[in-house]
Amino acid sequence: MGATNRIVDLNVNGDRRIAGVPTHYTLLETLRYVLGLTGSKQGCDKGDCGACTVLVDGVATLSCIMPVWEAEGAEVVTVEGLARESGPHPVQDEFDLNGAAQCGFCTPGILCSAVGLLERNPAPSREEIKEALSGNLCRCTGYTKIYNAVEAAAERIRTGSADGAGRR
Ligand code: FES
Ligand code: FES
Repeated sequence: MGATNRIVDLNVNGDRRIAGVPTHYTLLETLRYVLGLTGSKQGCDKGDCGACTVLVDGVATLSCIMPVWEAEGAEVVTVEGLARESGPHPVQDEFDLNGAAQCGFCTPGILCSAVGLLERNPAPSREEIKEALSGNLCRCTGYTKIYNAVEAAAERIRTGSADGAGRR
């Protein structure tokens, strides 16, 4: 990791994490290389691809361009922290049910962006879903199944439906 120049006090996935990091580290570098949370991916590393998206106080955030110290005092949730005690987050479950999961590089960021959208807007239109996911780039998908999955998850969250039982 190199020289430790700064101690950061973070809340990640509900756990307090105190770590020594180089002062130049981003939130993404700290998550991956100090805390061992490798679900968030380092793609472009300059804010263009969305692979590093995490939730910071519920807002989808590009962790590759966020200095780690800016996350102190906030609640950080990564893809590892989306699931609930009862099982996967509805967005995760609907990605499964709708065949929306892409590769392990883009999917974590897409999931976090989708969860962030539904936390602020429980009934998004298709256009609002497209806008919310517009920063998550994948050249391999047409996105239709992803949009369908987000709509299905929104419906489940609104109606309090526990799971997609019977649709597998
Ligand atoms: S790795 Fe952060 S936007 Fe690409
Ligand atoms: S970048 Fe993950 S499937 Fe396209």
